[in-house]
Amino acid sequence: MAFFALGFVTILAQVALALPSGDDAPFLEVVDSSKAIVGNSVWNATVGPNYAKPIYYNGKEIVGSAKGQYYSYAQQSRSFQFADPTIVESGDDFIDIKFTASEGEAHWVIYRNQHGAYQYFINKDLPSTLGEWRSLSRLDNETFPNGYNSLKQGALPTLSEIESGEKVQDETYKLDDGSYITKYDWSDFINSATFWGVYGDEVGCWYIHPSKEYINGDHMKQELMVHRESNTGDTVLLNMIHGLHFQTIAGHEFAEGRIWGPWLWYLNDGSIDDASAKYDEEVGSWPYSFPSADIESGHHQRAVSIEGVITLSDGRPASGANVMLGDNNNGEIPYEQGSNYYYRTTADSKGSFAFENVRAATYALYAWAGNNSDVSDVSTNLTVNDIEVSKTTEAQDIGDFTWGTQKRTKIWQIGDLDRLPRGFKNGCTGYHHGLSDDSPANLNFTVNSTEESEWAYAQSAEGTWQVSFELPSAPDSDAIAVLSTSFAGYSSGVNMEITAQSGGVDVGEINDLANDPSVYRSSTFGGLHRYEEIEVPAGTFKEGTNTIEFTVTKGSEWHGFMWDSVLLEWS
Ligand SMILES: *[C@@H]1O[C@H](CO)[C@@H](O)[C@H](O)[C@H]1NC(C)=O
Ligand SMILES: *[C@@H]1O[C@H](CO)[C@@H](O)[C@H](O)[C@H]1NC(C)=O
Ligand SMILES: *[C@@H]1O[C@H](CO)[C@@H](O)[C@H](O)[C@H]1NC(C)=O
Ligand SMILES: *[C@@H]1O[C@H](CO)[C@@H](O)[C@H](O)[C@H]1NC(C)=O
Ligand SMILES: *[C@@H]1O[C@H](CO)[C@@H](O)[C@H](O)[C@H]1NC(C)=O
Ligand SMILES: *[C@@H]1O[C@H](CO)[C@@H](O)[C@H](O)[C@H]1NC(C)=O
Repeated sequence: MAFFALGFVTILAQVALALPSGDDAPFLEVVDSSKAIVGNSVWNATVGPNYAKPIYYNGKEIVGSAKGQYYSYAQQSRSFQFADPTIVESGDDFIDIKFTASEGEAHWVIYRNQHGAYQYFINKDLPSTLGEWRSLSRLDNETFPNGYNSLKQGALPTLSEIESGEKVQDETYKLDDGSYITKYDWSDFINSATFWGVYGDEVGCWYIHPSKEYINGDHMKQELMVHRESNTGDTVLLNMIHGLHFQTIAGHEFAEGRIWGPWLWYLNDGSIDDASAKYDEEVGSWPYSFPSADIESGHHQRAVSIEGVITLSDGRPASGANVMLGDNNNGEIPYEQGSNYYYRTTADSKGSFAFENVRAATYALYAWAGNNSDVSDVSTNLTVNDIEVSKTTEAQDIGDFTWGTQKRTKIWQIGDLDRLPRGFKNGCTGYHHGLSDDSPANLNFTVNSTEESEWAYAQSAEGTWQVSFELPSAPDSDAIAVLSTSFAGYSSGVNMEITAQSGGVDVGEINDLANDPSVYRSSTFGGLHRYEEIEVPAGTFKEGTNTIEFTVTKGSEWHGFMWDSVLLEWS
């Protein structure tokens, strides 16, 4: 039955569509209702129903005994059962092939002479509240010995190296020499990453996303990009289109018709420079003319450019701020949003920002002090709901926005409010497991005298970090100070008590925040940003030397607080 139904659909499609012709034409060769060979004269893959395998590129098979390419999500009880391969659109040079499963449609768009394929997925019935969701390529480990992302390149650890170690936590192994191997060392900022991949002397395999509109999270969202599978030894190239590796929330709801992609799954001779050039070329072609079959019309309803200007309430431009169009009227911080489509940029020195090729919809506009911004003393953020974006072919000015600052008088600040531990010991130095062991348990920090690089990126161990500072004159008797603690990330198991004047005054405590795995999963950049303000009672601080203490009362190795900044101000 299924076979006849398929034949019927295929014939219909072929009558309606002019297919590319010639020896080098992209093709769909249906094997049975749930299996087909797709490709062109450069490469081909046998797809379905669960895996794409084998895959040939320039005559060489590149999956070997590894699993191949597939989609999967966390807590999945059975593999996708893709079936009914059908050409749904074509032109002189391309075909768009749809494979259908009950959860959704996986498409391969194959061009003549293209080394690889464009791919996209349309949601039909993925679980509501979907956790981690990705596609990935598990490939032959001799063909692909190396991994590449913007922060780390070179040989992946071998399976035998991993097996020689002692497992000390999730995917983390301690070797005899005291060093660690963990897959999380191969993470990167997914929303600013250009391309990533695995490669060897003859073949490279890459994911290239010219847009990240369909990927969750803000500028700071990090994801695992490549790794060595620790059970099988497969070389793994990940495509974390809905990754949750460095955040607290468990999932999102997705509407029917929600699309991930198209991205380019790219094959080459292993050249990193060539993959980089290909990325530039793809960015220049975005948004692609396809897909147009079976897709909700919203995909092509776009504003070519959205512009605006942000000024702080104190008159300064929001120079270098992170700016994002995200979910409207939503309580989630942009880092954790993920149901819809997202646009991220940085304001220029005048506070002007622009987003390109934005899908028509209603968004919230968010701005906050990010990496290297000139407003890293501002602890507030801008959130403006109900930003209407409609389809236009000309730049759309959405206006001038005023971002209210905290309007307080600074006494001192350690670090920048940029949601990163930049400038601190070991802060922003890549992904390395175990660096928090290098943080002091106890630290004396004197404002205006101790170097900021003595303050460490992470505080994990029981002990006290004391900040001393001078006040040149006695504060007014009713002057209230506000202590703002800003953390770039937090992994659970560590509690902190805050006191002033060498423990004489209780200020507050920060206990049992929701876990994000950033600290124990190798990040020296952060995970979910946490920010708290605590009032210090009037009369606490005096003329002369004063102190504030951050005491870890319950420690946990590799967990704890990743510092962004600490700020003391008069209210
Ligand atoms: C796929 O590529 C291999 C290696 O070049 C080739 O032998 C095979 O015929 C190709 N399959 C199809 C259907 O073109
Ligand atoms: C490659 O995978 C095989 C198992 O298929 C494994 O025995 C071998 O150690 C792996 N190679 C590397 C470099 O990890
Ligand atoms: C803005 O600040 C408020 C209050 O601190 C906080 O609840 C919210 O998550 C922040 N939003 C962003 C975009 O940082
Ligand atoms: C922060 O900005 C600096 C300077 O532009 C840059 O070198 C660094 O890579 C950035 N760090 C992150 C985490 O984006
Ligand atoms: C901090 O200063 C106190 C008081 O001077 C001293 O007892 C303590 O040893 C110092 N701690 C460190 C880690 O230097
Ligand atoms: C730090 O130094 C600056 C510049 O000399 C001075 O204005 C400020 O009062 C000092 N702050 C503290 C807390 O010592």
